[in-house]
Amino acid sequence: MELWSENTIEEFRRQLLTWYDENGRANLPWRLNHEPYRVLVSEIMLQQTQVDTVLPYYERFMIAFPTVQDLAHAPETQVLKLWEGLGYYSRARNLQKAAKFVADDLYGNWPESSDDLQELAGVGPYTAAAIASISFNEVVPAVDGNAFRVFSRLLKIDDDIAQAKTRKIFYDAILPIVDPQRPGDFNQAIMDLGSSYMTAKNPDSEHSPVKAFNAAYRDGVELLYPVKTKKPKPVKQLFVATVSRKDNQLLFEKRPETGLLADFWTFPLTQINSIEDIKGEQLNIKPVVHVFTHRRWEIWLVKHQITPLENQKYLTQNEWQQLSLPTLQHKLLKALEECD
Ligand code: ADE
Repeated sequence: MELWSENTIEEFRRQLLTWYDENGRANLPWRLNHEPYRVLVSEIMLQQTQVDTVLPYYERFMIAFPTVQDLAHAPETQVLKLWEGLGYYSRARNLQKAAKFVADDLYGNWPESSDDLQELAGVGPYTAAAIASISFNEVVPAVDGNAFRVFSRLLKIDDDIAQAKTRKIFYDAILPIVDPQRPGDFNQAIMDLGSSYMTAKNPDSEHSPVKAFNAAYRDGVELLYPVKTKKPKPVKQLFVATVSRKDNQLLFEKRPETGLLADFWTFPLTQINSIEDIKGEQLNIKPVVHVFTHRRWEIWLVKHQITPLENQKYLTQNEWQQLSLPTLQHKLLKALEECD
């Protein structure tokens, strides 16, 4: 990893911010007004979604809910409607939960530090740092995929960004570089650099405003950064979920005490080698897919009347709704409903 002197750091800040002032996207709506509410909404929308896609959603959202109180007290259906098309709807639900927390529990008094901001639903270390630096001038780096890419190249940081512990290495490396007078602009300048000259696939470092500070480019190894190991692909396994009904009850099985979904209740699951093994008896048109870290389960529903074994029980809807069922079982129930 490169170590920068205090002079290099000062020169880097100066060149970066001069470029940002002259060429940055200063007219983005969340840059014209730094109220924490507006910055929070923008940062949540910008997770997994590009600026150009976000802009019209952001404008509509701000017209519908101009203040954190408006969002907190809106019907959830209206919030979800305005989110339609952005995807990852849990972001919208969490955003409203965060708004209720600020508006109702904190009487509209925003947490101002990046540590305290992480108490808000859906706000992790990156988003908290973005809001703290942009809205409250906290000198803290906002470390997301962009920052990983930009600083891994500038400083030739060889740590694997697929590993959780690497975030702290980047945080510690970037913290002394953040401009103490303009931390929010510094972080947003890095975002702009990462989406213009220092992109993942076709960087243009030759013309970048911080070309002179780019160690990976200098050494001709820019595209090797950031270092990211590929996770092995999960192994595919086929299962039959047995749907056994008696009166208005369904048969459930308690999973073993160890292994995947330990102790949860699901339909009885039996592994098969191939779809041929069930001779077209499956009820669903496509398998229910559930991915674990190392396994990808594809599950076919098959109707078959069975006598309960010791770890199996017939349960009424009322009874199984009392249990805390795993997501996998919710998916199976939903699939069954769709093919019944
Ligand atoms: N991506 C995430 N946050 C951003 C911001 N504040 N400006 C531009 N792009 C972003």
